[in-house]
Amino acid sequence: MTPDVPSASLAVDAISKRYGETVALDGVSIDFRPGSVHTILGENGSGKSTLVKLLSGVVFKDSGRLLVDDVPFEGRTPAQFSARGFATVFQEVLIAPDRTVTDNVLLGMDRLFVRTVPRQHREARVAEMLKRIAVSAVPPDALAGSLPLAQQQLIVIARALVRDPRILILDEATAALDHADREAVFVEVERRARAGGLVLFISHRMDEVFRLSDRISVLRSGRLVKTLARGDATTDELLALMAPVRPPEAHHG
Ligand SMILES: Nc1ncnc2c1ncn2[C@@H]1O[C@H](COP(=O)(O)OP(=O)(O)O)[C@@H](O)[C@H]1O
Ligand SMILES: [Mg+2]
Repeated sequence: MTPDVPSASLAVDAISKRYGETVALDGVSIDFRPGSVHTILGENGSGKSTLVKLLSGVVFKDSGRLLVDDVPFEGRTPAQFSARGFATVFQEVLIAPDRTVTDNVLLGMDRLFVRTVPRQHREARVAEMLKRIAVSAVPPDALAGSLPLAQQQLIVIARALVRDPRILILDEATAALDHADREAVFVEVERRARAGGLVLFISHRMDEVFRLSDRISVLRSGRLVKTLARGDATTDELLALMAPVRPPEAHHG
């Protein structure tokens, strides 16, 4: 048995963020419950990745509050978010192409870990993680840049998981994976949630959303439309909630 994941509660409270004239997030409030997979669903441009970046220290909110374990958290850098137990797999696959798979998985890992854990053990930990999330073999000594996108995506997922985060954020992180590897990642994601961790899952694929989510929050044009439990959601309803608001039809008579 793997040890339980320390649980974390997270909430965003009236969070707003604009880029120049573009309002990317407009007063969004969501409670995320420990021990759950919470999906953020929305069309392209609805603000999903902006929320992810705010929860990773990549961009900073204009207003609103972030609460971790019910306490306001004002982290401003990725290192501060990482230290608080967050780990994010970004939508863009960020790898160091000229370094090995193993180096890439351990990239940005705590220096203490790298200094105190012998090389062999580090390599074993990486290999074990890759095996857990990938049915296809990822060669640990290959240069990451030489591998297909799907394998690179597995590397960045392993990089987040190897930190054993309390809050794992996956932003469209399985888009390039084939069915078998995607399912292996989902099994690991579910295991973490069942063990008490919090997983934020960003997707616009309905099959994935129904496969994984405990709760679903729908964003539209930077606003929260609704948060609902999976059991209360149908595909048609979700699609309607995501869709841009149409101008009212003209009535005659
Ligand atoms: N760095 C940026 N500069 C300017 N506008 C941005 C930037 N990042 C995102 N946006 C805009 O903010 C809005 C939300 O984008 P994003 O959060 O990436 O949405 P999603 O991930 O749901 O597709 C979009 O209108 C997008 O064009
Ligand atoms: Mg996005």
